[in-house]
Amino acid sequence: MNIIWNADKYAKDFSFVHQYGNGVLELIDTDNAKTAIDLGCGNGVLSGKLRDMGLDVIGIDSSPEQLAIARRDFPDINFIEADAISFEVNKPVDVIFSNAVFHWIDKDKQSNMLHSIHASLVKGGQLVFEMGGYGNNMLIHRELSKAFNRRGLKYRIPFYFPTIGEYAAMIEKEGMLVTYAILFDRPTALNGDEGMNDWIRMFIRTPFKDVDKETENEIINETAENLRNDLFKNGTWYSDYVRLRMKAIKP
Ligand code: BEZ
Repeated sequence: MNIIWNADKYAKDFSFVHQYGNGVLELIDTDNAKTAIDLGCGNGVLSGKLRDMGLDVIGIDSSPEQLAIARRDFPDINFIEADAISFEVNKPVDVIFSNAVFHWIDKDKQSNMLHSIHASLVKGGQLVFEMGGYGNNMLIHRELSKAFNRRGLKYRIPFYFPTIGEYAAMIEKEGMLVTYAILFDRPTALNGDEGMNDWIRMFIRTPFKDVDKETENEIINETAENLRNDLFKNGTWYSDYVRLRMKAIKP
């Protein structure tokens, strides 16, 4: 996951990402936990919530920009720069929590990440996470793909959005036992008249890496216009999110 984040804009305009993380936190059994990792902690807001739940938390992220904000806002929390697919900790923890991160990891690297997670949990430890699930942002990716194709360009969805069955099998292959899983739609309001354009600019990076700025702007404007019927309601843009929320235990 090699992304240079505009961490201030992310915190200001996309704060819903961590606000929705609250529902995931509720899956943690805090009676049986003292220590936690927030994997892909970003700006640390959810690490702060884990700490407020009484957990001794380590935040891990690969983005120095996001970690700078996390360290500024939560100076009492230990934040470490590391990649989710290869992180290691000195001492296994009771809980590994993650929100809106796993879909950034390529499918063929997921088993490496789950292996690191398994190695970093104590026996009986909990993995609790939410990620984009099967069908996530289907309308947005469909329109982007059409806009690329109209220009003779190829579009590949730069994320991994698995089904429950597919991801449960991967987790179990790495030696953990799935105890909870749900896949659900969560249309999410975006900020401002340019909400869809801003969302695409913030999150869809790799497909545009060989596209000139003018064509990129054209594609983004055209995609937003073509999504208006489906995703602009009563003056507000929505992202067609589908969430995969799961809990697993290391037996
Ligand atoms: C998500 O949280 O589902 C997501 C966010 C940004 C890009 C892709 C997916």
